[in-house]
Amino acid sequence: MSDWYKKMAFYQIWIRSFADGNGDGIGDLWGVMDKLEYLKDLGVDGIWFSPIYPSPNADFGYDISDYKNIHPDYGNLELFQRVLKKAHALGLKVIMDLVVNHTSDEHPWFLESRKGKDNPYSDYYIWRDQPNNWDSLFEGKAWEYDETRGQYYLHLFAKKQPDLNMDNPKVRQEVEDIMRFWLDMGVDGFREDVINFISKREGLPNGVPFLPAVNGMMHYKDGPHIYEYNRQFRKVCEGYDCFQIGEGPMTTLQSAQKYLCGENKCLDMMFSFDHMMADCFYTEYMHRPFSLLKFKKAISKWQYGLAGKGWNALYLENHDHPRIISRYGSEIFHKQSGKMLAACYLFLQGTPFIYQGQEIGMTNIRLGKIEHYEDVSSKTNYHRYHVKDSTARRLYRIHLSSRDSARTPMQWDEGPNAGFCPEGVKPWFYVNHNHPGINVQRQQQDPDSILQFYKTCLRLRKQSRCLIFGDYKEHFPKDPEVFMYERSLDNIHYLIVCSFARLAIPFRVPKAIEGKMAELVLGNYEHGKKSPHAGKSGDNVVRLMSTGFLRPYECRVYRWKS
Ligand code: NOJ
Repeated sequence: MSDWYKKMAFYQIWIRSFADGNGDGIGDLWGVMDKLEYLKDLGVDGIWFSPIYPSPNADFGYDISDYKNIHPDYGNLELFQRVLKKAHALGLKVIMDLVVNHTSDEHPWFLESRKGKDNPYSDYYIWRDQPNNWDSLFEGKAWEYDETRGQYYLHLFAKKQPDLNMDNPKVRQEVEDIMRFWLDMGVDGFREDVINFISKREGLPNGVPFLPAVNGMMHYKDGPHIYEYNRQFRKVCEGYDCFQIGEGPMTTLQSAQKYLCGENKCLDMMFSFDHMMADCFYTEYMHRPFSLLKFKKAISKWQYGLAGKGWNALYLENHDHPRIISRYGSEIFHKQSGKMLAACYLFLQGTPFIYQGQEIGMTNIRLGKIEHYEDVSSKTNYHRYHVKDSTARRLYRIHLSSRDSARTPMQWDEGPNAGFCPEGVKPWFYVNHNHPGINVQRQQQDPDSILQFYKTCLRLRKQSRCLIFGDYKEHFPKDPEVFMYERSLDNIHYLIVCSFARLAIPFRVPKAIEGKMAELVLGNYEHGKKSPHAGKSGDNVVRLMSTGFLRPYECRVYRWKS
């Protein structure tokens, strides 16, 4: 296995809302095919497909009923192969979502398993006569009684997502088989769903209830065989030129290090959640005011913690989190904060992931009724948390925190349905009303747009070994309004300055670099006669001094040689 993924940036496609190519109101692979050049032009190097397999969509693809096929809404295997071929021809890698903690309850394995004990699939799932006290993360308790089998099955997520019994060697063989199927087809790796949950503690002991939804987690997160099972899957990948990125909900740096570093390494990267909790308490439904200090602490912890031994996965958005401008930025300072947020993470050490629509600064949708939401966890959480609040207040919380806030159709243009699907066709989900102002077409024509800024950042990163491999150092970690970090490699240095303040604040630089002559290579406001956005080498050379101001949500990237 090689480490080409370190130099790359990936784009996440949540296909249902990406682009509708066959005019039925649902995004699909025909749509993806049409947009591959757009992705190439954006400057990413690969695509992560959230699940595109057959699924009853109880959890929009994360409940799989056939691991080796494509959902008919999205196309078929032959079309997928054509997309893959075209992506490869354009130099884009393609990684698939590997969801093996659970299947759909409509998967043939489960349909067989529920028939009873004398069945080859009987131990594919986790069955008990009596449930323990674990909670499901998505729907009530973690156990559901099955009339046919006369037993309870475990589901850490929705009822329609029964957990596989990974302790059964046959199940692990199936996982290997699924991996080989896609790798043989030519895909370049996997994003592995809740991969730290696949080994449950023997005997499934009761958890200690202290918070709703997570009771039991202490017995299924990083369980007793977790590294062994992941090593087994790693061996499959070792036969191919691919990489693996695990999703690690609630993972700590210490446990992530075990997956990512040393001789037992079984993953190349891990999506951690620490930095996504700067405005909430363990889930977005427990909202808190945004704290930059919390955000910086989490980022620096992972940057320092993996330096020289592992590799970070960098992201601010995906299909599980509301839009970042609506959270850590400002819809009022839309353009400035959208750009600043891009700069604040694209230059960290790690492989950046950009979620569809993030590159144009899409924002949260606001829907008038809970019935208008589709996501199973949003509906549960509406009824689970803050139930004494008024309806308006609870809906406001859903607006702030729902996964659906980031699952609205991609805004391609200002026309009907935002260009996501043809006029007259009803899109599967609500299009955000702000699409006349926020859309790809408009931003392609505007050299000062968020989209162009993403392109510039990605180009800058790609051209600089320092921005990819350089050391990370945070400055002024206690500053509650500015995130400032330095990257350095050999004699090249970059200083990334990001203000999260809504008002102008004084600009200061660390003593150690004060007085240095540096080039302003990027910024989100006009500086001097030309936009630093388009700053070319040699322009905009300044002396770094603690003078002047940072404007609201201003970001600047300086470069100098020592
Ligand atoms: C994590 C996925 O990202 C999320 O969308 C899904 O609902 C859960 N895992 C369960 O598969």
